Amino acid sequence: MDTQIGRMALEVSAKEEVADGVVALTLAHPASARLPDWTPGAHIDLFLPVGVTRQYSLCGDRWDPYTYRVAVLRERDGRGGSTYVHDTLSPGDRVDAGGPRNHFPLAPSEKYLFIGGGIGITPLLPMVHAAEVLGTDWQLLYGGRTRASMAFAEELAGTHGKRVHVVPQDERGLLDLPAWLGTPIPDTKIYCCGPAPLLAAVEAACAAWPPNTLRTERFTAGEQAAPVRETSFEVELRRSGRSVTVTPDDTVLEAVRRAGAEVVTSCEQGTCGTCLTPVLEGTPDHRDAILTGHERAVGDCMFLCVSRSCGDRLVLDL
Ligand code: FES
Repeated sequence: MDTQIGRMALEVSAKEEVADGVVALTLAHPASARLPDWTPGAHIDLFLPVGVTRQYSLCGDRWDPYTYRVAVLRERDGRGGSTYVHDTLSPGDRVDAGGPRNHFPLAPSEKYLFIGGGIGITPLLPMVHAAEVLGTDWQLLYGGRTRASMAFAEELAGTHGKRVHVVPQDERGLLDLPAWLGTPIPDTKIYCCGPAPLLAAVEAACAAWPPNTLRTERFTAGEQAAPVRETSFEVELRRSGRSVTVTPDDTVLEAVRRAGAEVVTSCEQGTCGTCLTPVLEGTPDHRDAILTGHERAVGDCMFLCVSRSCGDRLVLDL
């Protein structure tokens, strides 16, 4: 997994409304320096002065080394991050950014089916571009509440014609997933980003597809099953030589901080990837929304903010 983390002050060089309730920000280095490279599916953290950190998918041109572009949906029930971006952040302002990091990388494939719901279109934009550049067969299924709320729908349909299927719910209803996913298509990978109900519906509709066909990115952690282990367990911090008990009421993050470990975090919900930590011994109970099935099975890393232990003991590289 790509775990590149850095923190830099960026300047807002442009801000434009790209749909009802969605603004796109163009961010650049204040001294016009090159920005760290990224790949389709990557996101950056924005450390907003209202005290919240938010992750936004990079949706601009990955071959432009001087600017990042993100699109921000106004979230009425959020903690003020999107309200600040919409109402206060202006061209010329500076904002701290972290990353970029990519937990949703585009794997090589003969064909792609991209499925985006609402603002979930953003990580798919550079993927569509990459698939086009590679000459790969691809299609995009894009659903949203109304046409006016669907950022980039017009330019996608205008540029790519029949490969793009725009489905505003008020005109055409929900995405017809049984029609699209009812029969597995050989040599195809599916990339889906959007609200939790869409991801759940796509996961269910892909049950008969080969393993590892579907990759999803969610912005909030999904419904969680009960932890594998309901009792306390020990965590050894191998590098610092300390051990700590994680009770059923603790997160591993809280426990290791109590033991003096410094761990950088952002979302603390298992969705951003900031707290990724190598596991040296033991079997993690993965409870994040990031790792693939294969990465979970390997078990050599975990997200301390949400994941726990299947056994009596974990040894972490801390
Ligand atoms: Fe975001 Fe742990 S802090 S995954």
